[in-house]
Amino acid sequence: MTILVTGAKGMLGTDLCRILRENNVEVIEWDLPGNDITDVTRTVNQIKRLRPDRIINLAAYTDVDGCEVAKSRAYAVNVQGTWAVVLGAQKIKAPLLQISTDYVFDGAKDVPYLEDDESNPINYYGLTKAQSEAIVRTKLKEFFIVRTSWLFGKAGKNFVSSILNAAKEKDTLEVVNDQIGSPTYTVDLAQAIHKLIQTDFFGIYHVTNSGICSWFEFAGEIIKLTGLKNKIIPITSNQLERAAKRPKFSTLNNHRYIKTFGQFLRPWRKALAQYLKS
Ligand SMILES: NC(=O)c1ccc[n+]([C@@H]2O[C@H](COP(=O)([O-])OP(=O)(O)OC[C@H]3O[C@@H](n4cnc5c(N)ncnc54)[C@H](OP(=O)(O)O)[C@@H]3O)[C@@H](O)[C@H]2O)c1
Repeated sequence: MTILVTGAKGMLGTDLCRILRENNVEVIEWDLPGNDITDVTRTVNQIKRLRPDRIINLAAYTDVDGCEVAKSRAYAVNVQGTWAVVLGAQKIKAPLLQISTDYVFDGAKDVPYLEDDESNPINYYGLTKAQSEAIVRTKLKEFFIVRTSWLFGKAGKNFVSSILNAAKEKDTLEVVNDQIGSPTYTVDLAQAIHKLIQTDFFGIYHVTNSGICSWFEFAGEIIKLTGLKNKIIPITSNQLERAAKRPKFSTLNNHRYIKTFGQFLRPWRKALAQYLKS
């Protein structure tokens, strides 16, 4: 099987391409600057020329606060870029897997979101990702939408690396305690994507490590597991001035993935421990 992966050099893409190759998948890697998915004509023509069996669209403008400022760039990559990849998939009749986010939800629920819950994004990044989902759903019959959250992995800047860097600079760290989600290790997510992409069980899936926490609890676990002695103080989102609003409770119920494969992803604490060891 040949799979085209966009955003291949990103945090998730790096682990995903490695895991696909380890499983004898032929991978075509696309990323900037060579393959810009906002170039619609070129993207469609290249997909028609390469004719992969399946496509995984990870490429995105992922800076959540940056999206509030650089809206046209965010729209160009996340919406127009997805549209180009979808058009290409349509032309060659290849199933497409689109990665999406818990930020398509408003966070007003107090139980984990189900796959068919209505999206209602409260920031521009979430809006563009919800629009990209809509394009995939309306233009393709054979698609997977995989929503995930709070990613950490070796190949990118993420919350874990930010906390460890901050811990070198300051004895006391202030971390938000009123946003709840599920941290997810890119290696575990990549393995789940590998399982899913080989099937024809199309549809929307939520895939995260098990368990939920606040960013404050997440930071506490990072400090504990690394044996550091920094003090962590809980603060509210209002105390942190950020361009984009974040959902308060955006945990994702992995029901459909668990039903399909009979297993769930390991608890985030275990995944974090392995990530820190590696
Ligand atoms: N990180 C999270 O917590 C999280 C949570 C939920 C969902 N997701 C989704 O998961 C996917 C992967 O996220 P990630 O954290 O691995 O992000 P990432 O590290 O920022 O990777 C995205 C990759 O896409 C590339 N890219 C950007 N614009 C492009 C374009 N026009 N054409 C081709 N490639 C382009 C980026 O290149 P540059 O670095 O050069 O811009 C980067 O290599 C994204 O779709 C994201 O929305 C992420």
